[in-house]
Order: sequence, then structure tokens, then C-alpha cells
Amino acid sequence: MSQELGTAYRTTAAGTLRADDAGETIRLAGWVHRSRDLGGVLFIDLRDRSGLVQLSLGPDWTPADALERGAALGMESVIAVEGVVRRRPDGARNEELPTGEVEVHVGSLELLAAAETPPIPVYQVPGEELPAEELRLRYRYLDLRRTPLQRALETRHRALQTVRRHLTDRGFWEVDTPMLTRRTPEGARDYLVPSRVHPGEFYALPQSPQLYKQLLMVSGYDRYFQIAKCLRDEDLRADRQPEFTQIDAEMSFVAEEDVFTVGEEMMAALWKEVLGVDLPTPFPRLTYAEALAWYGTDKPDLRFGMEFVDLTETLQHADFRLFSAVRESGEQIKGVVAKGAADVLSRKDLDALNPVAQAAGVPGCLWVKRTSDGWSGQFARALDDELGRRLVEAAALEVGDVIVVVIGRFRRTTTVRESHGGATDADRLGGAEAALDALRRHLGDRLGLRDASKHAWAWITEFPLFDWDAEADRLVAAHHPFTAPHPEDVPVLLEHASETVAGEGARALFDARLRSRAYDAVYNGHEMASGSIRIHDARLQRTLFRALGIGQEEAERKFGFLLDAFRYGVPPHGGFAFGFDRLVMLLTGAASLRDVIAFPKTTAARALFEGAPASIGDDELKDLHIRKR
Ligand code: AMO
Repeated sequence: MSQELGTAYRTTAAGTLRADDAGETIRLAGWVHRSRDLGGVLFIDLRDRSGLVQLSLGPDWTPADALERGAALGMESVIAVEGVVRRRPDGARNEELPTGEVEVHVGSLELLAAAETPPIPVYQVPGEELPAEELRLRYRYLDLRRTPLQRALETRHRALQTVRRHLTDRGFWEVDTPMLTRRTPEGARDYLVPSRVHPGEFYALPQSPQLYKQLLMVSGYDRYFQIAKCLRDEDLRADRQPEFTQIDAEMSFVAEEDVFTVGEEMMAALWKEVLGVDLPTPFPRLTYAEALAWYGTDKPDLRFGMEFVDLTETLQHADFRLFSAVRESGEQIKGVVAKGAADVLSRKDLDALNPVAQAAGVPGCLWVKRTSDGWSGQFARALDDELGRRLVEAAALEVGDVIVVVIGRFRRTTTVRESHGGATDADRLGGAEAALDALRRHLGDRLGLRDASKHAWAWITEFPLFDWDAEADRLVAAHHPFTAPHPEDVPVLLEHASETVAGEGARALFDARLRSRAYDAVYNGHEMASGSIRIHDARLQRTLFRALGIGQEEAERKFGFLLDAFRYGVPPHGGFAFGFDRLVMLLTGAASLRDVIAFPKTTAARALFEGAPASIGDDELKDLHIRKR
């Protein structure tokens, strides 16, 4: 037994009782999980945070007696008992319960709080569905009693402690930064807080501690981290919350490899602690350009290969209209090879590929199988001996392989960062790229290549410096404006941005496709972290602002406090932020961030049980100098 939870009400935790505790007199307190009356002997399953144990009352206790003696037998009532631990007789043991070898024979029982019948069950009966999530979120305090949610939050706690210990041991100091602040440059909308004492002025809640952590480097703190709350008013999805937590870190006198080492060792410690898995380090590094060319995405799932093969050169000579048309259109033909899948993929499976491609915005896809009798499939007739041989060579096709191809424009037209609220890859990527990526993932699922027991991490490096904001028709920083450009691309930047860039110039700068020193960490196809080496040269920083069309005055207004600080000796620095909720979601196999956050928001950004956001009375608004329209 564990005395960890011992207090004035109890000596031990219910879920920790074992056979060798038999004979001990103990006190327990917790919730009535279930009760059953078996002809004079009354059984109650008592639950606390540590688990369940069976109490036996009787044979002299009837339910009426029990009630008289204070046991409200209604589910979820809170009781305290004193009793003796007994081994259960053979045949009465419950193998599925960790405490299943014992029961507690109760001598006295006290009702601490009666409970009404809960509106939602606090445990899931196997085979039965849970109540609707909206109802569960409304009664979150009850839903949180369910074991899977308790376990998820326990894992979250353990993960937090592991991170804190790991970074502390490596010389990082945990520094907390303000919540009432000025706008930060992450690119989503801010949540604003009106100032009462300064009419018409607003604080912004931080989208990240970006500026503060850079200032801490200017202050000479060298290695900072924070488990930081970030707030972003953006469109939500299953893997986004308006309020979320980052493992945010910054280091001085570093280059990319120093940051990667800290990040990957921290992940290895986490995977070891929570899953008992040894992650191989260092993680593979891929440039952004490689990720795009091989997987069509900046967050490739590297649990399996199936890299894109460029077949434009080979197939454009086919006597097959769809292929030969690329000679004029300038489009490309790329494919993925499903190794040995010819017998596995049925006609139905192959027919299911077209809708996958279409959902990603292309007219469709084409496939052929290489069989021992030659070719079969949609463009088999286009493959004469010579072309067949060249296709085999270009795609390293063996007998039994299937190749699926997409025709279209593969060059990525713009880049997207998650922080640019609302945009999805499909919105902004060339359709062909997104389609072949979707097909690759679809085939990966169908062929069982994406199983949860595999752990494929990688750093994606050299992200583009600029992005084109199609809505506003302007150049924007792809990560944020403090990200250092790639050293090889600095001369081009200096040339283009000798003065403030606007209009055509901005487009030309975007088309120059400059690289940056920004990176992401990806895991099994998810973006888990972002970061960059920052600019520490005030002149280069001014050039970058000019490139973004931000004049000196605007730069002063927006980021003046950082720019001022940079005048007084700034070390080279860089860092990262891991999405902590996402990490816990993937570590626990949860389907949604809501299952790993104690009090989450709905996809409509509402907190259901406390009822936020809520309207505010006119008097209060008046104090805040706000008038409703
Ligand atoms: P970024 O905006 O890419 O970078 O965020 C870093 C990581 O935070 C997670 N994340 C989210 N998780 C849940 N809900 C959201 N709405 C959400 N938005 C982001 C992702 C993402 O990879 N200041 C920079 C980091 C740096 O440059 O050091 C930043 O915040 O896992």
C-alpha cells in the first residue's frame, strides 16, 4: 500500500492495496463507484485517484442498515471507511483489478457528501459509447473522473516534470514572462484586454514569449526555458486550441546543431520516461526543399519511405494524351511506388485512390501494376517495351509493385506556417503536391506502414524566409521577422532590399525564394516544434524590415523595445518552441488536444462549463471605455 495520499481522513490510497497488506487496519476515503447487495453482504467499489478497491459490508449490514449508519449508497457519494484488509477467497478474485486479490472489510463508515445522480457516467461501460462531447465538456469536472482522462493528465504531469528536470540539468533557467503585453509577431490574431486606466488602450495576450526570450538573451541569461501559455485567436482544429502550452526555449552563442541537440535529447528523455521507448538520436535532418521534393509536404511522415519519383522525363514521351500534354503545359508527372502491393491492393482499393487525389484538388491520379505478365492498370497500354523498361529503371520497380502518379504543377507556389491562422496546406500548396502527399499517406495507412509503435522524428531545416500572403497581397515573414536569413542568401536580400520594398519588388523578392535559418521538428507527420536562429545584427534586421515593406517608423512602433535592446550588445542566439499539448496527445494516443487539457475550449472557442466567453454588463464596459455597437 502507498501512504502517499495519507491525511486526516485516510491512511492509504485505495488503488494501492495488495495481498500482503492483508490483516492491516486502514482508513480510506473516496467515491462510491458502484454498490451491489448480494443477499446480506453489501459490496461497494470505492474509488480514489489511485484506483478502485472493493469494500465488503456485512453479513450483518443490509442496505437499510448501511443507510442508517451513514452510507448513502448512491453512486458518486463521498464516504470514509475504516476496515481490515482481507484476502479474497479463491474464486472471488478479480484478475482485472490491481487490487483484485483483496477487499476491505468495513467496520465503520461515514458519509462525507451525498451525490445526486450524475448527468453523465464517470466510467465507460465496455462496448458503450460515451455521451456527446459537448455534454461531457459541460460537466467537465465529472468527465475528468474517467480513468482515461486521469491517466492522460497524469502523463501530462510526468512529461512536464521530465522536461523541467532535463532542461534544468542542462543549464536552462525557467523564467516566466508577462501575460499582459504588447502584440507579438506570430502572425495569428491577438486576444486583446482593454485597459481601464488608459482609455482606448489595450494589452495583447501573448501569442508566444518570442520577444521576451530574445530580450533575456540580450540580458545575458544564456539559456532560458518556460512552460509557456500562448493565446491565439485563430480557426481551430483537433490539433489547435486558442489557449495552449509550449515548451519554449532560447539559447545564446548557438548554431542550428546546438539547438537540435537540446531538442532531440529532450524528446528522447520524454519518450523514454512516458513510453519506455529509446528514440535514436540524432534525428534525421532534411532541408525544406528536400522534404517538398520527396514527400510534397513540410511535415512528412517518415515512418515509411515511398518518396516521390519524378517521371516527367520518362512519361512525357508516352503515346498517352494525359502524359504527352505536359510537354506543352510545363506540368510534371510524379509518382509513388507501393512496394509489393500488387496483390494486396484490390480493385476497390485502387478505385478509392481517385477521390483521395480529387479531395486535394487535382482531377485524379493514375496507376499501373508491374506483374510477372507485364503491366496492368490505367496506363498499361501506354507502356511499350522501351518505355516500360525506362519506367522500371526510373522508379526502381520490381514485379509486384504498384505505381500511382499525379500530373500537375509540383512547384510549391507559397509556403504556409501553422501560425498563419486558418490556412491549411491544401489551400496554399500546389494541388499536385498535396494530392500526391495525400495518396502517399493514404497508401501508408492502407498498407499498415503508419503504425503507432513507430516513432519517426526529423528536423526540417532551411524553411523559406518569406511567404506570400495572398489575401493581403503582400510579402510576409514565413516564420517571424527576427529569423535569420540563410547566409548564402544574404547578398540577394541586401541587393533587393537596399531601400524599402513594395509592389513588384516584393513579388520579385518572394520569387527569389530565399532560405532562412528556421526549422521545424516533425514527428510521424505532425509539426511538433518550430524555431530559428535569430538575427543579431541590427543592420541586417533593418534590411529585413525594409524587405517586408516596414519602414523605420513602423518598425520602431511595432518592435521598438527589441530594436533598442539590440543596440546594446546582443549575442548570436536561437531557440525553439515545442507544442506541449500536441506532445502529450501523441504520447497518450489521444484523438484530440481536448483529451489532454484539463479544461479545454470547444472547436468554437467556448469553455462550456464555466460559460466563457460571456457578455459583460454596460456598467463594466463603461469602466473599460468600450461601447457596444
Ligand atoms: P510556432 O507558432 O510555430 O512557433 O509554435 C510552436 C509550436 O506550438 C504548437 N502550436 C499549437 N498547439 C496547439 N494549439 C495551437 N493553436 C498551436 N499553435 C502552435 C505547434 C507548433 O509547432 N515563437 C515561435 C517559436 C520560436 O521561434 O522559438 C513559435 O511560437 O506544435
